[in-house]
Amino acid sequence: MTAPDRQSPDRVATSEGIKETGLAKAWGGRFAANPDARLEAFNASISFDVRMIREDIRGSIAHVRMLGAREIVSAAEAATIEAGLWRVWDEVERGDLQFTIADEDVHTGVERRLRELIGRDAGRLHTGRSRNDQVINDVRLWTKGAILSLIAGTAELSAALLDVAAAHDDHVMPGYTHTQRAQPVLLSHHLLAYVAMFDRDIDRLREAYGRTDVMALGAGALAGVTYPIDRAMTARDLGFSDYSVNSMDAVSDRDFILDALYACSMIALHISRLSEEIILWTSAEFRFVELADAFSTGSSIMPQKKNADVAELARGKTGRVFGHLFGLLTVVKGLPLTFNKDFQEDKEALFDTVDTMLAVLEVYPPMIRTARFNRDRMAAAAIADFSLATDAADLLAKHHVPFREAHEVVGKLVRQCIDRGITFADLTDEEWLATHPLFATERPPLTAEASIAARDVPGGTAPNQVRTARLAAAATLAETVAWLASRETAHAAVMRRPGNGLRDEKEAP
Ligand code: ARG
Repeated sequence: MTAPDRQSPDRVATSEGIKETGLAKAWGGRFAANPDARLEAFNASISFDVRMIREDIRGSIAHVRMLGAREIVSAAEAATIEAGLWRVWDEVERGDLQFTIADEDVHTGVERRLRELIGRDAGRLHTGRSRNDQVINDVRLWTKGAILSLIAGTAELSAALLDVAAAHDDHVMPGYTHTQRAQPVLLSHHLLAYVAMFDRDIDRLREAYGRTDVMALGAGALAGVTYPIDRAMTARDLGFSDYSVNSMDAVSDRDFILDALYACSMIALHISRLSEEIILWTSAEFRFVELADAFSTGSSIMPQKKNADVAELARGKTGRVFGHLFGLLTVVKGLPLTFNKDFQEDKEALFDTVDTMLAVLEVYPPMIRTARFNRDRMAAAAIADFSLATDAADLLAKHHVPFREAHEVVGKLVRQCIDRGITFADLTDEEWLATHPLFATERPPLTAEASIAARDVPGGTAPNQVRTARLAAAATLAETVAWLASRETAHAAVMRRPGNGLRDEKEAP
């Protein structure tokens, strides 16, 4: 392997740009020799942390406004720096800003560009701040936006499941244990089980949001800073509900990222389980579901094939989401306080997890909404294989036969039916009577509908219970959507360029 060419044109252009300002590296003063190209390439995070550039610029703007308000820098200097930062912002918006490995990370890259635009005053921005509190503040701001998008995607998936449940609220199907037919249930009840999972997932994301919504600036490198800063002012400017209580924890805490990765892992896990069912249900063996052509794929060799690739790929992506969670848990577990360079590994895990989950959440709801359920197949399967046996045993137990005895009686009847190749529906009055005298006067339900209606307990599959559960889930979702809208508005207001946006560029000094 050869080292990157130190004389490549973009490197020269960049380092000349920096050299004009008399600083090769933000930390260069103490060093007599230039960094080795291999060190630079290994050390740099600019290729991926550039994703947080708006958060980085916005955080710097809040910081310098506060420095100006507290007269740590003069009001005029603060205004010059803020205007320069908005010019960098506009260059980002236009796609004009280029970085190279020599920029190291987004924080030093933005400062380098600011220096090119406004000169020496750029050097005042980093007063009372360290990259250690800066980086985690950027990640917190970025993660707040990401969690809101994840909640929106998860809520949309729940909404799709609720709509499909409502449209099929009298469809019956077999419920399974051990992947064996067990008892009939409503299809809507089955779908609402996933809504309950995604509701918990949204709770986890909201908790993760709460722990993310804490400003780290003011922690400095690790011990706090020596200037009379106003942390509450900076937090307010950036829309943070709170600021960190301990400077050492502030710069070495990555728990909120792990919270988000865990919440994502659980969403991925739930989607993976749903995917597994969709894959089974679309097979010729089940034929419970047919996916819309627009959300299915074919085979390059077998002309007849129609595959559930979306569900399979969503199931497969669970592996990398879990991997990122375990990767970061492992990165953090042995780290002494406070900042360690190891933390730089947090960002790719976070970004890829969020990208992966948002991609899954984008395609999954329309796939669910456009799936067609085969009512007849599901209904036939619902009562096959003695799925109503529990109902027969329950009937005896309701007439004071101890349930264990009732279970035994019905179990024997099932075995006789299997031996004779018949079902309960084929039994004569005499055969019912011979099974148990109580069956002379009363018969167990012989339809899925009767069996389902009998499970009329809160949380059960009886139609009125499922309707109540569906309306409750819809109300919970509506509350989530309202919460989300208020947070999205607040976050967008923080991240919005004030004034005339790009046009300010021409008027700027
Ligand atoms: N690129 C670094 C990161 O991703 C930023 C913080 C660097 N701080 C430091 N003391 N080297 O974590």
